[in-house]
Amino acid sequence: MQETAERLRNGGKRIGLIPTMGFLHDGHLSLVRRAREHSVDCIVMSLFVNPTQFSPDEDFHRYPRDFERDKNLASGAGVDILFFPSLEEIYPKRFLTAVSVDTITTVLEGKIRPTHFRGVTTIVAKLFHLTKPHVAVFGQKDAQQAVVIQQMVRDLNFDTQIIVAPIVREADGLAMSSRNVYLSPEERNESTVLYRSLCLAQQLIAAGERDSETVRTAMNNLIAQMPHTQIDYISPADALTLEDRPLLETGNRILISLAVRFTATRLIDNCLLTI
Ligand code: PAJ
Repeated sequence: MQETAERLRNGGKRIGLIPTMGFLHDGHLSLVRRAREHSVDCIVMSLFVNPTQFSPDEDFHRYPRDFERDKNLASGAGVDILFFPSLEEIYPKRFLTAVSVDTITTVLEGKIRPTHFRGVTTIVAKLFHLTKPHVAVFGQKDAQQAVVIQQMVRDLNFDTQIIVAPIVREADGLAMSSRNVYLSPEERNESTVLYRSLCLAQQLIAAGERDSETVRTAMNNLIAQMPHTQIDYISPADALTLEDRPLLETGNRILISLAVRFTATRLIDNCLLTI
């Protein structure tokens, strides 16, 4: 892959990278369209279920995989190169290095999944070296991941422009995710509460509510009505630093993010707003 990328670059082609773990859905495919908008000549999609971003009690082994389906969807969406490295190619024996970003990885998702972002930044740094992208597209769905990657790119001077694309949702509001297939029919029905709770937060804030705790409690109460839910966190935070914002003040850019378990399936969602 590295030689192909080098050849493309030397030939004056602009490379766009879309990193994924596969089991593609319209959210992933929307990133391909975004890359095209940034005058990219060659779209590389990587497909690699990265073990280092899963903790031992998470779903690495049962993460949904369907290579043939992904191959067809990717080529139908206009992906030029599907890069699907093997585990050994990415993590050969005696692999000893990691890339890790401080502070912003210890809150929200990072608080509950302490080793997760180190796995993400390490694989994304490797993918950047392997595919040499001018542009890389990530989804707002994983809001903290996008913030962390942008920080890594700034701090380590990666020569790649990061684009963050909006969340693609099902018709009933559920954010598309490869993990949605784990939901039972009842859990799938209940799962629309996540988007409804984000809409409720936006309504409260639009009506003048400025106390984070009041917003959080209202969202919590709505979600807790669903029998299969267990809330990991609901957080109105500063969109850049990801720090808690007790008071939502005019001019603030706020990220309201949440993680909720539906029995064994953990879903995340968020919305960005400017007060
Ligand atoms: P994965 O969960 O497969 O997601 C790949 C990309 O698709 C991420 O940038 C994610 O934010 C985006 N995405 C997922 N669902 C989306 C939706 N509903 N709307 C818009 N974008 C969506 O995120 C990862 O893989 C991995 O952590 C990875 C970056 C590939 C590193 O292993």
